[in-house]
Amino acid sequence: MAPRTPGSLISLNGTARDTPTAAAGRPERGMAHIGPAALARGLSREFAGRLVLDRLDLDIAPGEFVALIGRSGTGKSTLLRALAGLDRDVTGEVSVAGGAAVAFQEPRLVPWRRVWANVCLGLRVSDPKSVAHAALEEVGLTARADAWPLTLSGGEAQRAALARALVREPSLLLLDEPFSALDALTRITMHRLVLRLWAQHQPAVLLVTHDVDEALSLSDRVLVLAGGRIAYGGRIDIPRPRDRDHPELTSLRTSLLGELGVTTEGH
Ligand SMILES: Nc1ncnc2c1ncn2[C@@H]1O[C@H](COP(=O)(O)OP(=O)(O)OP(=O)(O)O)[C@@H](O)[C@H]1O
Ligand SMILES: [Mg+2]
Repeated sequence: MAPRTPGSLISLNGTARDTPTAAAGRPERGMAHIGPAALARGLSREFAGRLVLDRLDLDIAPGEFVALIGRSGTGKSTLLRALAGLDRDVTGEVSVAGGAAVAFQEPRLVPWRRVWANVCLGLRVSDPKSVAHAALEEVGLTARADAWPLTLSGGEAQRAALARALVREPSLLLLDEPFSALDALTRITMHRLVLRLWAQHQPAVLLVTHDVDEALSLSDRVLVLAGGRIAYGGRIDIPRPRDRDHPELTSLRTSLLGELGVTTEGH
């Protein structure tokens, strides 16, 4: 099992164990760099003799928004699970300073608990219900707090999953294709919401996405996972909201699509 730093806390299925100290000592964005929010060194994972992660190295700075793209089956979810401490069979070093929380592609709400109770499930604080309500207010879901999860729309369910991640006050927010099942308009609203929550709470974010434009519009850095390693990284220093036709983005888009084996000439 990968060694973890003392104080690193592990989340489970997006319903992280209580992380009461997760926010303590978290650096403000812009403060002197006091170490990465997440670090992996020589991280490997094998399934049935096949190496999916192959001595992968990764650093994510506190408060940094990183997007991770890669072809299907390259190990993106495997990497997220390793960073979240959900995979005991990885080898190498993983450390997460503070706590991690995960939101998955499918919101994974417990159907027999009301939305607010899902949000604070497993959270050990003195008044979990008010903590849950405050988080639901932040994601614009106050009106659905007492609803049953199965009555939520896809976008509402993802908001609830985000609220559930937020109440853990993670220093690392892991998002595994959380918007891929949503329609285009809802996605845009969710993008804005995630950027707002990121600015307010300042976690480092690792967002897995298949959508290169989503990566370009949201992140500080886009990474490509290929051959079990981070094969490419491109930094984006353009203020948000970004014009998708910005020349830097156009050029980075071409590079990223090239890394993914897609040409922009329709071949
Ligand atoms: N528990 C498992 N047992 C066996 N193989 C697995 C297991 N989990 C993942 N794999 C394999 O590891 C590879 C990487 O899987 P992973 O889910 O990390 O890919 P991914 O990059 O997230 O793909 P996608 O973009 O389709 O979500 C795949 O070939 C997958 O079949
Ligand atoms: Mg995946």
